[in-house]
Amino acid sequence: MVALQEGRIWIDGCFDFAHHGHAGAMMQAREKGDELFVGVHNDTDILVNKGPPVMTLAERMVAVEGCRWCTTAVANAPYVTDPLVMDEYGCKYVVHGDDITTDKDGKDCYAEVKAKGRFIVVKRTPNISTTDLVGRMLVHTTEHHLARVDGQQWAQWQRVSAADAAQAGGKTLLTPENVERYRRYATAADARSAGAAVWVYTEAGVHELVKGQASARTKPVYYVDGGFDLFNPGHITFLKRVRELADADGSLVVVGVADDAAVNSARGGSYPVMNLLERSLCVLQSKYIDGLVLGAPRAVDTPFLTLFKRGTGLSVHRVVHGPTTPLQADDYDDARATGLLLEVTTGLDLYASMTVESIVERVVANRAAFEERQRRKGVKAETEKSLENQEEAVRAGAAA
Ligand code: CTP
Repeated sequence: MVALQEGRIWIDGCFDFAHHGHAGAMMQAREKGDELFVGVHNDTDILVNKGPPVMTLAERMVAVEGCRWCTTAVANAPYVTDPLVMDEYGCKYVVHGDDITTDKDGKDCYAEVKAKGRFIVVKRTPNISTTDLVGRMLVHTTEHHLARVDGQQWAQWQRVSAADAAQAGGKTLLTPENVERYRRYATAADARSAGAAVWVYTEAGVHELVKGQASARTKPVYYVDGGFDLFNPGHITFLKRVRELADADGSLVVVGVADDAAVNSARGGSYPVMNLLERSLCVLQSKYIDGLVLGAPRAVDTPFLTLFKRGTGLSVHRVVHGPTTPLQADDYDDARATGLLLEVTTGLDLYASMTVESIVERVVANRAAFEERQRRKGVKAETEKSLENQEEAVRAGAAA
């Protein structure tokens, strides 16, 4: 056994999909210490306690390992948190979001660690969960899509007040709450200092939203773009490969994420499953990138590269594309003609052919099992809510 260390934090969960709720929990956990061990449950335990996972253990491990705040990912962590397993890794505390998670018998998975004073609670990220995403795949909806940020919206953000944002409702990307989220998700591996940079593209320019280490550098850029919907091992292994190529060439990696309308017009139906806020936060938590462009234009052409240089001070040295179909057939014509295009099709291992459609297909092909998962989750949520109320009453009693 390793000696318990104050700064070594444990977090565990299913981490089914690399969504920004999971990343937010890892980021807040990392803020509590210096090292973060992430325990990932196996497929059988999830099936027994909650219903079928969409992504396999190996795929969920790729997602967790790709998160900037994770130091070590641990496969097969027990569904009910076991202090002996935390001891094995020298982790004194476990972090969990401020919801109660129960096992198949309706018991709080963290009861034992809570009783031992080894539990730290962080804020759960609102409006995102695996259950929500599975729900969107079962009931085709575009309700979650956000409006494109244009020059007028950018100008408005410069003067925005919390009251304006509240009035704009949930369809606007640039609200004080979302921008604060971008700032926190851009932090470096220590979850404190500045890390990645975030820019917003409008037809008038590329504007800095979050200052990152890249903003102060003069290195050339490997620029990648796409929809990055349901951020998955296909995207993650591709970005990892781009990182290796960029490092070998002394370059930065900047990722352009297309807006919801652009993805929808290319992919149709209710795509994207995740909106621009959700897709971009998934990209931003990736340990393989240095910067992000929100609402990047469809074509990576010379006018865009000129705006990019003017707005960021950085020059694009390579436009990189992976093995999947671009949003539109002619997206890279300019980059090809100017000799900037680099097509990466090797070194992507198992996940080269994974796409958002192939993941949605898993859910649709097993509709009955996933509908049952959703129903069970709804029933569990009621038990969990009543446990939360009991805990709240005990806390209020202790405070009185
Ligand atoms: N988490 C969070 N915010 C969310 C979702 C999850 O902070 N919106 C946290 C959980 O509290 C937990 C960790 O992420 O600490 C892993 O969560 P997981 O076990 O994968 O559960 P959920 O994403 O909540 O999945 P589901 O919707 O299926 O319950």
